[in-house]
Amino acid sequence: MELNLTTDRLLLRPLDLSDLDMELELLTDHMVTRYVCEDVTADQVRQWMPILVTRCAGGCIGMWCVIDRATDEKLGHALLLPIPIETTETDWSLVTGDAIPAGEIEIGYLFKQSAWGKGYATEACTRLLRFGFEDTPLEEIVAVTDPRNVASQNVLLKSGMIDEGLRHAYASQCPGFRLTRQQWVEANRSPG
Ligand SMILES: CC(C)(COP(=O)(O)OP(=O)(O)OC[C@H]1O[C@@H](n2cnc3c(N)ncnc32)[C@H](O)[C@@H]1OP(=O)(O)O)[C@@H](O)C(=O)NCCC(=O)NCCS
Repeated sequence: MELNLTTDRLLLRPLDLSDLDMELELLTDHMVTRYVCEDVTADQVRQWMPILVTRCAGGCIGMWCVIDRATDEKLGHALLLPIPIETTETDWSLVTGDAIPAGEIEIGYLFKQSAWGKGYATEACTRLLRFGFEDTPLEEIVAVTDPRNVASQNVLLKSGMIDEGLRHAYASQCPGFRLTRQQWVEANRSPG
């Protein structure tokens, strides 16, 4: 399975240990994580890094480093991972083996502040949805955001996901979005 995904401006390649620099910059920035998790320390990021590069199902479930193709700058990360429902953290023990983990798979992304407002998140999210439905057996992909995270809600809608109202995930009620394979195929059917 080809896991290096390109768009006009971006390369998405599987996250690896050499991306620690970018994850440190991303995850220790309160403005980046404020709607995602509690504040994170550099030591926590270093501890998590070996887990964050874990993949399963032939590599199609995991995290990708998002890179500006023109400059090689690492801009952020995007992911397809099991969504936590009753807890606030991804259950990485599910990210193992050859099969897609049971339960719902969420799409997510975090970008450095310097990369915001340029359409990068929408471009990366759209590409990862295409990967999910063209290259993997996923039947649907979900997403949730903090209710205050209007930017991310816009990204999901612009990427073609359907607003399904409030739902339960991350141990709380939050805006939910979903796209089924059928909906994706219909939206991407070429005219004629
Ligand atoms: C949310 C985030 C990914 C958006 O990334 P981005 O690259 O700036 O998004 P885009 O440029 O693709 O913007 C998509 C749309 O959202 C709109 N948007 C961007 N920021 C916005 C904001 N603060 N409020 C309202 N709308 C906003 C844009 O205008 C754009 O719509 P348009 O093309 O019609 O103008 C980015 O701000 C980020 O990484 N935030 C921190 C991490 C995070 O919250 N991740 C999501 C967790 S659910």
